[in-house]
Amino acid sequence: GPLLTTRELGWAIHHHAVIGSTNDEAVSLARDGAAHGEVVIADRQTAGRGRRGRVWASPPRVNLHLSAILRPKLPPQRAPELVAVVAVAAAETLRDLGVSAGIKWPNDLEAEGRKIAGILLDLSADAGRIHFVVAGIGINLNATRDDLPEELRGIATSVRQEVGAIVSRAEVAASLLAHLETWLDRFEEEGFAPVRSRYRELSSILGHPVRLTEPDRTLDGIAEEIDEAGALIVRLPDGGTERFLSGDVTSLRK
Ligand code: BTN
Repeated sequence: GPLLTTRELGWAIHHHAVIGSTNDEAVSLARDGAAHGEVVIADRQTAGRGRRGRVWASPPRVNLHLSAILRPKLPPQRAPELVAVVAVAAAETLRDLGVSAGIKWPNDLEAEGRKIAGILLDLSADAGRIHFVVAGIGINLNATRDDLPEELRGIATSVRQEVGAIVSRAEVAASLLAHLETWLDRFEEEGFAPVRSRYRELSSILGHPVRLTEPDRTLDGIAEEIDEAGALIVRLPDGGTERFLSGDVTSLRK
């Protein structure tokens, strides 16, 4: 059958052998007027970006680096819901491949406690509306343990390491775009409720002890709920709760 089954996402694909960052490229295309659904893919990134200004390093040619330009009709305050939409699509893509992937709030994908994919959203908005969103997804596909630097072996994994087979980047890209389109449609038609309920099923932290790290403090508790805005509710040792719209989570189980 056809590789790409989407209606809108991926109608134009800008493929690069090497690029700094697919998100940077997609942002610049979007600023120049690129339309909803245009996608940037690179075999290799030389300046891949992670959340919170971190570097996203990835060995050449083995991984998927994909950024989709989205123009959702959504007030900017609702951007966190979009993060959940992308996380659900990425988790379902990984599950279809046989990986027991879970979402670590807000948008890390892990398998057996090790990172397998990451999501970075770049938002362009004013107080009233979103101009565009670039949804960047990096999935560790075909790296072996030996391809990883020593310090990453304990904390990162790949589809190949999890399922024991090499996967096609084109097929994974097509599947990811299909899942993303399905969930974006659903989000537009039914709102956040169905996204939230799928997100909760796919969460790897709900009900488990976590540590939340913010720039100025650290806090331990139990990840209790993802609320109707996509925020994480943590139950604290003193019985109270705290609500987070962003932050870094470490799982304290094992
Ligand atoms: C994270 O976990 O910190 C997010 C990582 C996001 C990486 C992807 S790879 C494709 C896209 N281009 C980038 O520069 N970053 C995202």
